[in-house]
Amino acid sequence: MILETERLSLTPLTLEDAPLVYPFMSDPEVMAHWDRAAIEDPDEVAAAVASQVAEMEERRAMYWGIRLTKTGRFLGYCELLDLDWRHHRCELGFIVAREGWGRGYATEAAAALLAYCASTLGLKRMIARTHVGDGRAEKVLQKLGFEQEGYLKGHVDRDGERRDCRIFGLLF
Ligand SMILES: CC(C)(COP(=O)(O)OP(=O)(O)OC[C@H]1O[C@@H](n2cnc3c(N)ncnc32)[C@H](O)[C@@H]1OP(=O)(O)O)[C@@H](O)C(=O)NCCC(=O)NCCS
Repeated sequence: MILETERLSLTPLTLEDAPLVYPFMSDPEVMAHWDRAAIEDPDEVAAAVASQVAEMEERRAMYWGIRLTKTGRFLGYCELLDLDWRHHRCELGFIVAREGWGRGYATEAAAALLAYCASTLGLKRMIARTHVGDGRAEKVLQKLGFEQEGYLKGHVDRDGERRDCRIFGLLF
């Protein structure tokens, strides 16, 4: 399912997108607040994209590449994780290449996902998790109407470093 917004086209992630994902997943600044550190090996990014595609086939998650409609430039991707069809809920995530930051792209893409979740997938609730200190992601969530619901101490193990996270939630 392709989702169109004012400036963006969101298309389901494919194996062919892996070389477009690599530049930002290998960028330590972009990955500073992600669950895993920057990935230096392009084959590892390709393997990660392959497992994302497999998750989509199993209807456990959905991933969309974010492109500028005007130029076709690949900006990043957004995701619906842990799709729970019994409880009508999922987790939202987004990642944008550094050159695209601060132009409202993540908010615009995520808003389209929210609308798709509510109208087409029939979901009723969404959560999102940030690493403490990720002011940008928290701002995006706030603009989308999410509220902080919890604080998870040492929730993530990143290369042996335990990180605290915040949980945000939204009921449709
Ligand atoms: C989080 C991320 C997706 C935001 O992308 P983006 O396209 O720049 O987001 P937007 O432009 O829609 O919104 C960013 C907002 O944060 C604000 N902002 C920027 N730096 C900030 C900071 N240090 N603290 C608080 N807010 C900040 C911007 O001003 C903007 O708000 P505004 O529109 O009211 O001015 C991007 O920074 C990213 O890919 N980060 C790495 C991946 C990640 O950590 N994802 C979060 C996991 S869910």
